[in-house]
Amino acid sequence: MPGVVIVGAQWGDEGKGKVVDLLAERAAMIVRFQGGNNAGHTIVRKGEEFKFHLIPSGILHEDKACVIGNGVVVDPRVLLGEIEGLRRAGIGVGNLRLSANAHLIMPYHVLLDTAGETKLGKLSIGTTRRGIGPCYADKALRLGIRVQDLLDEKILRTKIRAALEPKQQALRELSVQRRKQRRESGGRVEEGSAGVPDPRLDLHTMVEEHVSFGHRLEPHIADTARLCWEALDDGETVLFEGAQATLLDLDHGTYPFVTSSNPIAGAACVGAGIGPGDIGEVWGVAKAYATRVGAGPFPTELFDETGERMLERGHEFGTTTGRRRRCGWMDLVALRYAVRLNRMDALAITKLDVLSGLGPLRVAVRYRSREGAVLDTFPYHQSILHSATPEYEELPGFDADLSECREEGDLPQAARDYLGFVSDFVGVPIRLVGVGPDREQTIPVGN
Ligand code: IMP
Repeated sequence: MPGVVIVGAQWGDEGKGKVVDLLAERAAMIVRFQGGNNAGHTIVRKGEEFKFHLIPSGILHEDKACVIGNGVVVDPRVLLGEIEGLRRAGIGVGNLRLSANAHLIMPYHVLLDTAGETKLGKLSIGTTRRGIGPCYADKALRLGIRVQDLLDEKILRTKIRAALEPKQQALRELSVQRRKQRRESGGRVEEGSAGVPDPRLDLHTMVEEHVSFGHRLEPHIADTARLCWEALDDGETVLFEGAQATLLDLDHGTYPFVTSSNPIAGAACVGAGIGPGDIGEVWGVAKAYATRVGAGPFPTELFDETGERMLERGHEFGTTTGRRRRCGWMDLVALRYAVRLNRMDALAITKLDVLSGLGPLRVAVRYRSREGAVLDTFPYHQSILHSATPEYEELPGFDADLSECREEGDLPQAARDYLGFVSDFVGVPIRLVGVGPDREQTIPVGN
């Protein structure tokens, strides 16, 4: 089975990292193909917790090649921080490869992300403010700075100058706005600093800093598409690890409340440099319930005590921003959409243990539009989705603590029936079930 793609099936934070970490045992290479440090993977191994934002989850397997593909946007400061953190934890990073074609998140991207959100006010998307959108925008505008540019100071300077120029107006407005906010909040405003650019945006400083990043990253920079081809052509298994998730997809998600890349399986081809024929299997990862961070439609969202209990029991706070996640019942209309869009072969269901003790369980099986029409499929029109109300199937709940279950047979009948219902409804087998954060707390289903 050469290429296996692993994607989020909901709005992110499904526990993909843990699934990748497990499947990585059978792979020779793990490749991230989109997103940036807006993602956050937590992997717990023998009680020790590891958090990654950029580095593929497979890094804990020191015998596997770990690749950051061309489709990823890389904040070099964050990447170097993660490399340093791993070194300190005694984990080697000699197997990490970074695509020379990946785009860099520059300091101005981060500032523009925040400025854009502030400007949108009530209409803001709730981004992670890591500069993801502005970086992908520059990529499309052909004003991006790529990893390979770090290795040539002259090119780097020319490109940063060209990229900065059209942003001057927005950045000037930002600096004025900041001065105003500082003054209003009683903070110190340096005399004569009006119009003085943020020191982080000084061309000379930025170039010097990035040349130094380049020196430090150079051992990892490679033609990563070629590395993927070599592994695939040798018949090795390569895992393509998606970040974020299907419903945050720029084209197929709940636009504009989405990320700026394509987290669906098809994007693995572009973001890693492989062909569709290289993909043999697609796995989706979904929580046994649903969560979402940031703004945007979420038909099964709960505003009651059950939602609160999901939040507390599931520790539903963002790995990247610490934000409280919105919680709700599993949405099978949306999941079936994600299954088809990614053409999934298998599902991993995580956090089943969180549902224990919640009473009867609900899963959305259709929506009803404001006009009363029955909607069996995920509506493409945003106004319909925004006002759709879910209709539920109620299933028996379970009270047992699942955290010690290690085989399918250890699960209470109601939990197995719940999984069976989900699998039948969306038409894909469930192959893994998570019952706790540790990698041992995972139950293989079927073969
Ligand atoms: P951005 O990707 O930072 O531009 O944020 C766009 C939207 O995607 C916001 O709603 C974020 O909360 C959401 N988002 C981005 N990355 C993740 C993730 O890894 N998990 C969950 N939501 C995310």
